[in-house]
Amino acid sequence: MPATTARLRTEGLTKAFPARSGAGDRVSALEGVEMTIDPGEFVSIVGPSGCGKSTLFNLLAGLDRPSGGRILLDGRPADNLLGEIGYMPQADLLMPWRTVLDNTALGLQLNGVKRAEARERARGEFQRFGLAGFEDVWPSQISGGMRQRAALLRTFLAGREVMLLDEPFGALDALTRQEMQQWLLRIWQEDRKTILFVTHDVEEALFLSDRVYVMSGRPGRIELCVEVELERPRELERTMTAPEFAELKLKLIEPLRRASAAARAEDG
Ligand SMILES: Nc1ncnc2c1ncn2[C@@H]1O[C@H](COP(=O)(O)OP(=O)(O)OP(=O)(O)O)[C@@H](O)[C@H]1O
Ligand SMILES: [Mg+2]
Repeated sequence: MPATTARLRTEGLTKAFPARSGAGDRVSALEGVEMTIDPGEFVSIVGPSGCGKSTLFNLLAGLDRPSGGRILLDGRPADNLLGEIGYMPQADLLMPWRTVLDNTALGLQLNGVKRAEARERARGEFQRFGLAGFEDVWPSQISGGMRQRAALLRTFLAGREVMLLDEPFGALDALTRQEMQQWLLRIWQEDRKTILFVTHDVEEALFLSDRVYVMSGRPGRIELCVEVELERPRELERTMTAPEFAELKLKLIEPLRRASAAARAEDG
């Protein structure tokens, strides 16, 4: 028996989709995915495009059903995960017709919190999320980094112990991205929620995580799991220039390259 019960665990998780053209084989998106995430951990998943990362998140969030295997939340087999886990999907959009404040309050409102109270609670986090002063503007009037922080705030406010973040910084320029990584670590350190984070960026994964899973090309399997024993709290420059950081990067890059090359060969 493990010393602590895993917060989230997948056992032999498999997902196949019907073939798009009607006839023909089913598309196998995930095959036998085994992962363990302990309470309060920050865990990242890297893998080639199309390997099933978003599919995995959809299963964990309860938006779709696995074809095989199971998901355990706090040790219990989770048959209906909808609403149990916070989820910021890859193409996260703020609603253009709601102000920034009303967008961030949405997660609470969906939980049944009344609009006025939801707005007050959201407002209380604007400073910490770097959004103070932008409560009453439209999403189109704030920067890309701020939009991502607003979408993150909406996810955080929903108050779940586990949060799935699917490439939240993918569309940001390098500098903004680094600022956001440091900011997210601070927020995580304050709140100690369990975070599962998808990224294409090995450095981002290492800087943020306690553990990194590398997925193979489609059908996605866990190819490798690397423990990141870099000391915390982490400071960007110091962490990224540490010799251990370079060693970990080497460990991840070669398997990831192989998985990507295999995925390209499969597609092409
Ligand atoms: N609803 C669906 N019906 C059929 N096939 C699907 C469906 N959703 C995903 N797929 C297929 O499953 C595979 C995995 O897709 P998924 O979006 O999970 O990949 P990903 O790892 O998130 O990719 P990316 O890094 O580009 O975001 C792809 O081949 C995709 O075409
Ligand atoms: Mg995806």
